[in-house]
Amino acid sequence: MARPSNHFQSSVGSKVVMALSGLGLVIYVIFHMLGNLQVFEGAHALNGYAAFLRDMPILLWTARIGLLNLAALHIILAIRLTLRNHRARPVAYTVREYRQASFASRTMAASGLVLLLFLIFHLLHLTAGVIDPSSVDRLDTEGHRDVYGKVVHAFQNPFIVALYLAGQLGLGLHLNHAVTSSLQTLGLEHAAFNRLFKAAGPAIALVVVLGNVAIILAIFLGIVRG
Ligand code: HEM
Repeated sequence: MARPSNHFQSSVGSKVVMALSGLGLVIYVIFHMLGNLQVFEGAHALNGYAAFLRDMPILLWTARIGLLNLAALHIILAIRLTLRNHRARPVAYTVREYRQASFASRTMAASGLVLLLFLIFHLLHLTAGVIDPSSVDRLDTEGHRDVYGKVVHAFQNPFIVALYLAGQLGLGLHLNHAVTSSLQTLGLEHAAFNRLFKAAGPAIALVVVLGNVAIILAIFLGIVRG
């Protein structure tokens, strides 16, 4: 009988863990986008929401540590599977058969890398305040951390806007393929739901990217102001 550790190290076991960790990260990205959309309701709403999250340190740190573990697991397994696939097929095909594979599925490693680079930049920028020290946390008139002011200040800069839009491209391509493929890996295939599962990836990718791009462009175009 296969030992659990052998199963975990097998390609199938790795893919199941990658699918589950990836879906966990997708749920975070959806809630993060929904929370950030409060920028359209003004400083009171966004800063109040950020303060509400910070006021529950145990929950906040549990979520952060959980998120970090999911991301680390997902990335390590992705690298391992990619290396294993390369080792299994060391000579590249001379004629590539792309008819079955979509553009998004062929570029999962590249879009994942763009997403990772975006995330590192994003955390250094808006969470740590390292990229733009003038963006570090100030307090608003109600004594809350002025997350609204920080975000509005950030997206007035065309370089920051360009980098965030590039990140959204990576995010969109990755989600487009990843969600449907994860559901398939987990064996969620049923004649009645197959079309729904196939549409889930592109639909989630579209909604999340449109939500994020709306925030970035509304600020850049002066529709949302400080
Ligand atoms: C337009 C798009 C986005 C905006 C406006 C945005 C905004 C923010 C802000 C303001 C913070 C800091 C919150 C605070 O200081 O309390 C933050 C943190 C964070 N963001 Fe984003 N974000 C965006 C996209 C993303 C994406 C696409 C991801 C994931 C791929 C992401 C992952 C994170 C993570 C992991 C944190 C750290 C959370 C924490 O400190 O607990 N963000 N984001």
